[in-house]
Amino acid sequence: MNSQTALVTGASEGIGLEFCKILAGRGYNLILVARRERKLNEIALELSQSHGIQCTVVAADLSLPQAAQLLFKNTKDQGLHVDFLINNAGLLHNGPFCELSLAEQETMITVNVQVLTSLTHLFANDMATRNTGHILNVASLAAWTPIPYQNVYAATKAYVLAFTQALADEMNAEGNGVVISALCPGYTATKMMDNPDQGATLRISPKMMMSPKDVAKQGITGCLSGKNTIVPGISNKISTAVTHLVPKMTLAKILGRFYRKNMY
Ligand SMILES: NC(=O)c1ccc[n+]([C@@H]2O[C@H](COP(=O)([O-])OP(=O)(O)OC[C@H]3O[C@@H](n4cnc5c(N)ncnc54)[C@H](OP(=O)(O)O)[C@@H]3O)[C@@H](O)[C@H]2O)c1
Repeated sequence: MNSQTALVTGASEGIGLEFCKILAGRGYNLILVARRERKLNEIALELSQSHGIQCTVVAADLSLPQAAQLLFKNTKDQGLHVDFLINNAGLLHNGPFCELSLAEQETMITVNVQVLTSLTHLFANDMATRNTGHILNVASLAAWTPIPYQNVYAATKAYVLAFTQALADEMNAEGNGVVISALCPGYTATKMMDNPDQGATLRISPKMMMSPKDVAKQGITGCLSGKNTIVPGISNKISTAVTHLVPKMTLAKILGRFYRKNMY
């Protein structure tokens, strides 16, 4: 039996929930973090009963001040050591930059960038003292190119990718036993693809979307095998290759046209 513990942010649905199911199947004890406590309790009950693991629920709004520090303290106060951190919680807002709410875009930057950075700092130091640990930061295919109408979101994910890739080299050079990876999913069939709270919605064919289960599986396998950058799915791998070949401004124009046509 695996006696290790994984902490997953955004565990109440989508890719985060799939991470939890896969980790539970591998025998990890879980710390489930999101805002909806009832949903987390239901998931915790189901996973602990079906896999004989321990689940701890931490209901937290990660957009609030000191969210990362309070979450870290909460795990310490409960005597929990995190062996695998998955920074998955993330927000998306689609639409013309000037028309979207500034407050919502600031919240998106807080959750996607600031909290992810702080949790990485706090838990990476903790893992380094024990000379072992894995951190998986969820970026996006959007990290590889500027995207009109998702400009702030894409920029937050570009930050996550660059931050994680650079840190992976530092950790490796320090030999502190901490492995850090960036996961870059493309369109994935979750609520994020059709969420009325995120400004506009995109008309995307289901054929263009991966299942959250496949995305989560490739993320966990890649991180545990020491890969620093994980792009799930063949078509997503081809898309990242294209971003190396085509000038960024040309890509922005192509994507801008696509979003103007498919956003509603
Ligand atoms: N779906 C895609 O096409 C896609 C593509 C590329 C990358 N990604 C990335 O993958 C990650 C997961 O996305 P997803 O598609 O699974 O999203 P999702 O289905 O919308 O789920 C988002 C999760 O984050 C939690 N969350 C949202 N705001 C929060 C807050 N303020 N504090 C704490 N938890 C919060 C939500 O739970 P509560 O509502 O209970 O708080 C939920 O569990 C994100 O980082 C996203 O950017 C997604």
